[in-house]
Amino acid sequence: MEGFIPEKSGISCYQGNRLIVLGIESSCDETAAAICSQGRILASIVSSQEIHTLYGGVVPELAAREHERYLNSIVDRVMERSGLILTDLEGLAVTQGPGLAGTLLTGVCFAKGLALSLSLPILGVNHLEAHIFANFLAEPDLTYPFVCLLVSGGHTQLWYIKGLQDYQLLGTSRDDAAGEAFDKGARILGLKYPGGPEIERLAAGGDNHAVDFPRAFINSPELEFSFSGLKTALLYFMDDVKSGRKTAHIVDVAASYQAAIIDVLTVKLAQAVSRTGVSTCVIAGGVAANTYLRQSVTNIFENEVKVLFPEQALCTDNAAMVAYLGEIYLSKGISTALDFPVKPNFSLVKK
Ligand code: KG4
Ligand code: ZN
Repeated sequence: MEGFIPEKSGISCYQGNRLIVLGIESSCDETAAAICSQGRILASIVSSQEIHTLYGGVVPELAAREHERYLNSIVDRVMERSGLILTDLEGLAVTQGPGLAGTLLTGVCFAKGLALSLSLPILGVNHLEAHIFANFLAEPDLTYPFVCLLVSGGHTQLWYIKGLQDYQLLGTSRDDAAGEAFDKGARILGLKYPGGPEIERLAAGGDNHAVDFPRAFINSPELEFSFSGLKTALLYFMDDVKSGRKTAHIVDVAASYQAAIIDVLTVKLAQAVSRTGVSTCVIAGGVAANTYLRQSVTNIFENEVKVLFPEQALCTDNAAMVAYLGEIYLSKGISTALDFPVKPNFSLVKK
Protein backbone atom coordinates (compact mmCIF):
# COMPACT_ATOMS: atom_id res chain seq x y z
CA MET A 1 0.00 0.00 0.00
CA GLU A 2 1.36 3.41 -0.91
CA GLY A 3 0.72 6.81 0.54
CA PHE A 4 1.58 10.33 -0.46
CA ILE A 5 2.11 13.22 1.89
CA PRO A 6 0.50 16.37 0.52
CA GLU A 7 3.18 18.47 -1.03
CA LYS A 8 1.99 21.62 0.69
CA SER A 9 3.43 20.23 3.97
CA GLY A 10 6.18 22.22 5.53
CA ILE A 11 7.86 25.64 5.48
CA SER A 12 7.56 25.98 9.26
CA CYS A 13 11.06 25.43 10.64
CA TYR A 14 12.56 27.06 7.55
CA GLN A 15 15.28 28.99 9.44
CA GLY A 16 17.20 29.75 6.28
CA ASN A 17 17.73 26.10 5.27
CA ARG A 18 18.27 25.97 1.53
CA LEU A 19 19.45 22.62 0.32
CA ILE A 20 17.72 20.01 -1.78
CA VAL A 21 17.80 16.89 0.38
CA LEU A 22 16.69 13.36 -0.41
CA GLY A 23 15.55 11.47 2.68
CA ILE A 24 15.36 7.69 2.93
CA GLU A 25 13.54 5.71 5.62
CA SER A 26 13.81 1.94 6.08
CA SER A 27 13.88 1.39 9.86
CA CYS A 28 11.04 -1.15 9.87
CA ASP A 29 8.38 -2.10 7.32
CA GLU A 30 7.85 1.15 5.45
CA THR A 31 10.04 1.87 2.43
CA ALA A 32 10.01 5.61 2.00
CA ALA A 33 11.73 8.41 0.14
CA ALA A 34 11.09 12.16 0.14
CA ILE A 35 12.65 15.38 -1.04
CA CYS A 36 12.81 18.49 1.08
CA SER A 37 14.01 21.94 0.14
CA GLN A 38 13.71 25.14 2.15
CA GLY A 39 11.64 23.29 4.71
CA ARG A 40 9.08 22.23 2.11
CA ILE A 41 8.35 18.67 1.05
CA LEU A 42 8.57 18.58 -2.74
CA ALA A 43 7.62 14.92 -3.01
CA SER A 44 7.13 12.01 -0.64
CA ILE A 45 6.32 8.35 -1.14
CA VAL A 46 5.69 5.76 1.57
CA SER A 47 5.28 2.13 0.60
CA SER A 48 3.96 -0.10 3.39
CA GLN A 49 5.01 -3.72 3.13
CA GLU A 50 1.88 -5.81 3.23
CA ILE A 51 3.65 -9.17 3.31
CA HIS A 52 3.88 -9.02 7.12
CA THR A 53 0.11 -9.20 7.59
CA LEU A 54 0.46 -12.90 6.70
CA TYR A 55 2.63 -13.43 9.78
CA GLY A 56 0.92 -11.17 12.34
CA GLY A 57 4.02 -8.99 12.77
CA VAL A 58 7.12 -7.75 11.00
CA VAL A 59 9.51 -10.49 9.83
CA PRO A 60 12.90 -8.70 9.81
CA GLU A 61 14.51 -10.74 7.03
CA LEU A 62 11.52 -10.30 4.73
CA ALA A 63 11.37 -6.59 5.53
CA ALA A 64 15.03 -6.09 4.55
CA ARG A 65 14.47 -7.94 1.28
CA GLU A 66 11.39 -5.89 0.45
CA HIS A 67 13.32 -2.65 1.03
CA GLU A 68 16.05 -3.91 -1.25
CA ARG A 69 13.50 -4.74 -3.93
CA TYR A 70 11.65 -1.41 -3.91
CA LEU A 71 14.04 1.32 -2.76
CA ASN A 72 15.45 2.01 -6.20
CA SER A 73 12.08 2.45 -7.88
CA ILE A 74 10.69 4.50 -4.99
CA VAL A 75 13.62 6.90 -5.21
CA ASP A 76 13.18 7.10 -9.00
CA ARG A 77 9.52 7.92 -8.57
CA VAL A 78 10.04 10.49 -5.85
CA MET A 79 12.58 12.26 -8.09
CA GLU A 80 10.10 12.21 -10.93
CA ARG A 81 7.29 13.57 -8.75
CA SER A 82 9.51 16.40 -7.54
CA GLY A 83 10.43 17.38 -11.11
CA LEU A 84 14.11 17.16 -10.19
CA ILE A 85 16.95 14.90 -11.30
CA LEU A 86 19.57 13.19 -9.14
CA THR A 87 22.24 15.77 -9.95
CA ASP A 88 19.97 18.50 -8.49
CA LEU A 89 20.35 16.92 -5.05
CA GLU A 90 22.61 18.68 -2.53
CA GLY A 91 22.47 16.25 0.38
CA LEU A 92 21.22 12.88 1.58
CA ALA A 93 19.60 11.96 4.87
CA VAL A 94 18.94 8.39 5.90
CA THR A 95 17.58 6.78 9.04
CA GLN A 96 20.54 5.40 10.99
CA GLY A 97 18.46 4.00 13.86
CA PRO A 98 16.77 2.94 16.01
CA GLY A 99 15.15 0.12 14.08
CA LEU A 100 15.79 -3.36 12.73
CA ALA A 101 19.49 -3.89 11.92
CA GLY A 102 18.88 -5.55 8.55
CA THR A 103 16.32 -3.04 7.29
CA LEU A 104 18.40 -0.08 8.46
CA LEU A 105 21.40 -1.54 6.66
CA THR A 106 19.50 -1.74 3.38
CA GLY A 107 18.58 1.95 3.48
CA VAL A 108 21.94 3.12 4.77
CA CYS A 109 23.92 1.17 2.16
CA PHE A 110 21.67 2.46 -0.61
CA ALA A 111 22.02 6.07 0.60
CA LYS A 112 25.78 5.76 1.02
CA GLY A 113 26.15 4.45 -2.54
CA LEU A 114 24.13 7.37 -3.85
CA ALA A 115 26.08 9.89 -1.76
CA LEU A 116 29.36 8.45 -2.96
CA SER A 117 28.42 8.41 -6.62
CA LEU A 118 26.99 11.95 -6.51
CA SER A 119 29.71 13.31 -4.15
CA LEU A 120 27.08 14.56 -1.70
CA PRO A 121 27.20 15.04 2.07
CA ILE A 122 25.14 12.47 3.98
CA LEU A 123 23.52 12.56 7.41
CA GLY A 124 22.62 9.55 9.56
CA VAL A 125 19.29 10.57 11.12
CA ASN A 126 17.87 9.48 14.45
CA HIS A 127 14.39 8.15 13.66
CA LEU A 128 12.95 9.34 16.99
CA GLU A 129 14.24 12.88 16.46
CA ALA A 130 12.71 12.81 12.97
CA HIS A 131 9.32 11.79 14.44
CA ILE A 132 9.47 14.72 16.86
CA PHE A 133 10.44 17.13 14.08
CA ALA A 134 7.52 16.01 11.93
CA ASN A 135 5.60 18.42 14.14
CA PHE A 136 7.61 21.37 12.82
CA LEU A 137 6.91 20.19 9.34
CA ALA A 138 3.20 20.13 10.07
CA GLU A 139 2.86 23.24 12.19
CA PRO A 140 4.36 26.57 11.12
CA ASP A 141 3.88 28.15 14.57
CA LEU A 142 5.66 25.56 16.69
CA THR A 143 8.36 27.11 18.88
CA TYR A 144 10.63 25.77 21.64
CA PRO A 145 10.27 24.74 24.37
CA PHE A 146 7.62 22.05 24.22
CA VAL A 147 6.88 18.59 25.55
CA CYS A 148 6.57 15.71 23.10
CA LEU A 149 4.76 12.44 23.74
CA LEU A 150 6.51 10.08 21.34
CA VAL A 151 4.44 6.94 20.86
CA SER A 152 5.47 4.40 18.24
CA GLY A 153 5.79 0.66 17.79
CA GLY A 154 9.05 0.54 19.72
CA HIS A 155 8.96 3.60 21.99
CA THR A 156 6.78 5.37 24.51
CA GLN A 157 8.64 8.41 25.74
CA LEU A 158 8.05 11.88 27.10
CA TRP A 159 10.56 14.46 25.89
CA TYR A 160 11.23 18.01 27.01
CA ILE A 161 12.41 19.68 23.80
CA LYS A 162 14.26 22.90 24.56
CA GLY A 163 15.99 23.48 21.21
CA LEU A 164 17.74 21.63 18.40
CA GLN A 165 19.88 18.92 20.05
CA ASP A 166 18.71 20.01 23.50
CA TYR A 167 16.42 17.20 24.56
CA GLN A 168 15.62 15.84 28.02
CA LEU A 169 13.99 12.46 28.51
CA LEU A 170 11.27 12.88 31.15
CA GLY A 171 9.85 9.38 31.11
CA THR A 172 9.67 6.13 29.22
CA SER A 173 8.08 2.68 29.30
CA ARG A 174 9.45 -0.02 31.57
CA ASP A 175 8.39 -2.72 29.14
CA ASP A 176 6.18 -2.68 26.04
CA ALA A 177 5.66 0.45 23.96
CA ALA A 178 2.13 1.76 23.39
CA GLY A 179 2.22 0.71 19.73
CA GLU A 180 3.38 -2.74 20.81
CA ALA A 181 0.42 -2.92 23.21
CA PHE A 182 -1.89 -2.16 20.27
CA ASP A 183 -0.16 -4.71 18.03
CA LYS A 184 -0.09 -7.49 20.65
CA GLY A 185 -3.63 -6.70 21.75
CA ALA A 186 -4.82 -6.93 18.15
CA ARG A 187 -3.20 -10.31 17.81
CA ILE A 188 -5.02 -11.58 20.90
CA LEU A 189 -8.27 -10.26 19.45
CA GLY A 190 -7.58 -12.01 16.15
CA LEU A 191 -7.02 -8.77 14.23
CA LYS A 192 -4.47 -7.97 11.54
CA TYR A 193 -1.05 -6.34 11.88
CA PRO A 194 -0.48 -3.42 12.42
CA GLY A 195 -2.89 -3.57 15.31
CA GLY A 196 -3.33 0.12 16.13
CA PRO A 197 -5.56 1.06 13.21
CA GLU A 198 -7.43 -2.26 13.52
CA ILE A 199 -8.26 -1.75 17.20
CA GLU A 200 -9.16 1.87 16.57
CA ARG A 201 -11.59 0.86 13.81
CA LEU A 202 -13.21 -1.86 15.91
CA ALA A 203 -13.35 0.32 19.02
CA ALA A 204 -15.30 3.07 17.24
CA GLY A 205 -18.67 1.51 18.05
CA GLY A 206 -17.76 0.13 21.48
CA ASP A 207 -18.12 1.03 25.16
CA ASN A 208 -14.87 2.28 26.74
CA HIS A 209 -16.06 1.28 30.21
CA ALA A 210 -17.28 -2.24 29.47
CA VAL A 211 -14.11 -3.92 30.75
CA ASP A 212 -12.04 -2.50 33.60
CA PHE A 213 -8.52 -2.99 32.24
CA PRO A 214 -5.50 -1.94 34.35
CA ARG A 215 -3.91 1.49 33.85
CA ALA A 216 -0.38 1.19 35.23
CA PHE A 217 1.07 4.27 37.00
CA ILE A 218 -2.04 6.35 36.32
CA ASN A 219 -2.27 7.52 39.93
CA SER A 220 1.46 7.84 40.45
CA PRO A 221 3.54 11.01 40.05
CA GLU A 222 6.21 8.99 38.21
CA LEU A 223 6.50 9.74 34.52
CA GLU A 224 6.67 6.06 33.65
CA PHE A 225 4.63 3.69 31.55
CA SER A 226 4.04 -0.05 31.60
CA PHE A 227 1.80 -1.91 29.17
CA SER A 228 2.77 -5.55 29.63
CA GLY A 229 0.24 -6.10 32.46
CA LEU A 230 -2.53 -4.68 30.28
CA LYS A 231 -1.70 -7.08 27.48
CA THR A 232 -1.77 -10.02 29.94
CA ALA A 233 -5.10 -8.81 31.36
CA LEU A 234 -6.55 -8.85 27.83
CA LEU A 235 -5.17 -12.34 27.25
CA TYR A 236 -6.81 -13.69 30.44
CA PHE A 237 -10.05 -11.84 29.74
CA MET A 238 -10.29 -13.34 26.26
CA ASP A 239 -9.51 -16.81 27.66
CA ASP A 240 -12.48 -16.37 29.99
CA VAL A 241 -14.68 -15.24 27.10
CA LYS A 242 -13.63 -18.20 24.95
CA SER A 243 -14.28 -20.68 27.73
CA GLY A 244 -17.68 -19.11 28.46
CA ARG A 245 -16.78 -17.84 31.96
CA LYS A 246 -17.39 -14.27 30.79
CA THR A 247 -19.40 -12.67 28.01
CA ALA A 248 -18.47 -9.55 26.12
CA HIS A 249 -18.87 -7.94 22.74
CA ILE A 250 -15.57 -7.73 20.88
CA VAL A 251 -16.19 -4.04 20.04
CA ASP A 252 -16.52 -3.25 23.75
CA VAL A 253 -13.34 -5.17 24.57
CA ALA A 254 -11.45 -3.28 21.86
CA ALA A 255 -12.84 0.07 23.04
CA SER A 256 -11.97 -0.65 26.68
CA TYR A 257 -8.47 -1.84 25.78
CA GLN A 258 -7.81 1.24 23.62
CA ALA A 259 -9.14 3.52 26.37
CA ALA A 260 -6.80 1.92 28.93
CA ILE A 261 -3.78 2.75 26.75
CA ILE A 262 -4.93 6.25 25.79
CA ASP A 263 -5.97 7.25 29.33
CA VAL A 264 -2.47 6.57 30.64
CA LEU A 265 -0.79 8.38 27.75
CA THR A 266 -3.02 11.41 28.24
CA VAL A 267 -2.57 11.64 32.01
CA LYS A 268 1.23 11.24 31.79
CA LEU A 269 1.46 13.89 29.08
CA ALA A 270 -0.55 16.26 31.28
CA GLN A 271 1.78 15.56 34.21
CA ALA A 272 4.84 16.24 32.04
CA VAL A 273 3.35 19.52 30.82
CA SER A 274 2.56 20.66 34.33
CA ARG A 275 6.00 19.64 35.63
CA THR A 276 7.89 21.54 32.93
CA GLY A 277 5.49 24.50 32.77
CA VAL A 278 5.51 24.55 28.95
CA SER A 279 2.62 26.11 27.06
CA THR A 280 2.83 23.75 24.08
CA CYS A 281 2.80 19.99 23.72
CA VAL A 282 2.94 17.75 20.67
CA ILE A 283 2.43 14.08 19.96
CA ALA A 284 4.48 12.08 17.48
CA GLY A 285 4.97 8.53 16.18
CA GLY A 286 2.56 5.98 14.74
CA VAL A 287 0.18 5.88 17.72
CA ALA A 288 -0.26 9.66 17.37
CA ALA A 289 -2.37 8.82 14.31
CA ASN A 290 -5.02 7.52 16.73
CA THR A 291 -8.07 9.80 16.70
CA TYR A 292 -9.10 8.93 20.24
CA LEU A 293 -5.64 9.90 21.52
CA ARG A 294 -5.81 13.18 19.60
CA GLN A 295 -9.23 13.96 21.09
CA SER A 296 -8.27 12.85 24.58
CA VAL A 297 -5.13 15.02 24.63
CA THR A 298 -7.00 18.00 23.20
CA ASN A 299 -9.77 17.63 25.79
CA ILE A 300 -7.56 17.34 28.85
CA PHE A 301 -5.87 20.69 28.29
CA GLU A 302 -9.11 22.61 27.52
CA ASN A 303 -7.32 25.32 25.50
CA GLU A 304 -4.96 26.14 28.37
CA VAL A 305 -2.07 24.45 26.60
CA LYS A 306 -1.49 24.44 22.85
CA VAL A 307 -1.79 20.87 21.57
CA LEU A 308 -0.35 20.00 18.16
CA PHE A 309 -0.07 16.84 16.14
CA PRO A 310 0.97 16.17 12.56
CA GLU A 311 -1.45 14.87 9.96
CA GLN A 312 -1.73 11.09 10.16
CA ALA A 313 0.61 10.39 7.23
CA LEU A 314 3.35 12.27 9.08
CA CYS A 315 2.78 10.32 12.34
CA THR A 316 3.50 6.87 10.96
CA ASP A 317 6.90 6.15 9.40
CA ASN A 318 7.76 8.33 6.42
CA ALA A 319 10.79 9.88 4.78
CA ALA A 320 9.47 13.46 4.74
CA MET A 321 10.46 13.83 8.40
CA VAL A 322 13.91 12.38 7.60
CA ALA A 323 14.50 14.71 4.65
CA TYR A 324 13.21 17.68 6.66
CA LEU A 325 15.50 17.06 9.63
CA GLY A 326 18.32 16.28 7.21
CA GLU A 327 17.99 19.67 5.58
CA ILE A 328 18.13 21.41 8.96
CA TYR A 329 21.41 19.71 9.93
CA LEU A 330 23.07 19.59 6.51
CA SER A 331 22.40 23.26 5.88
CA LYS A 332 24.29 23.99 9.11
CA GLY A 333 27.24 22.06 7.70
CA ILE A 334 26.59 19.07 9.98
CA SER A 335 26.98 15.71 8.20
CA THR A 336 28.11 12.18 9.07
CA ALA A 337 31.37 10.56 7.91
CA LEU A 338 30.57 8.06 5.15
CA ASP A 339 31.70 5.02 7.16
CA PHE A 340 28.95 5.39 9.78
CA PRO A 341 27.32 2.19 11.07
CA VAL A 342 23.62 1.51 11.56
CA LYS A 343 22.47 1.92 15.17
CA PRO A 344 19.54 -0.41 15.95
CA ASN A 345 19.41 1.00 19.51
CA PHE A 346 20.19 4.62 18.64
CA SER A 347 19.32 6.74 21.65
CA LEU A 348 18.32 10.37 21.34
CA VAL A 349 20.38 11.48 24.32
CA LYS A 350 23.83 10.25 25.27
CA LYS A 351 23.61 7.85 28.21
O1 KG4 B 1 6.06 5.27 14.16
P1 KG4 B 1 5.62 3.98 13.57
O2 KG4 B 1 4.99 4.02 12.20
O3 KG4 B 1 6.80 2.97 13.51
C1 KG4 B 1 7.75 2.88 14.54
O4 KG4 B 1 8.64 3.75 14.57
O5 KG4 B 1 7.55 1.99 15.38
O6 KG4 B 1 4.61 3.32 14.61
C2 KG4 B 1 4.03 2.09 14.35
C3 KG4 B 1 3.05 1.79 15.46
C4 KG4 B 1 2.45 0.40 15.35
O7 KG4 B 1 2.56 -0.23 16.60
C5 KG4 B 1 1.00 0.68 14.98
O8 KG4 B 1 0.09 -0.30 15.46
C6 KG4 B 1 0.77 2.01 15.64
O9 KG4 B 1 1.97 2.72 15.44
N1 KG4 B 1 -0.34 2.75 15.04
C7 KG4 B 1 -1.46 3.07 15.70
C8 KG4 B 1 -2.32 3.69 14.76
N2 KG4 B 1 -1.66 3.74 13.57
C9 KG4 B 1 -0.44 3.16 13.76
N3 KG4 B 1 -1.82 2.85 16.98
C10 KG4 B 1 -3.03 3.29 17.36
N4 KG4 B 1 -3.92 3.87 16.52
C11 KG4 B 1 -3.60 4.09 15.23
N5 KG4 B 1 -4.48 4.68 14.41
ZN1 ZN C 1 8.66 5.36 13.59
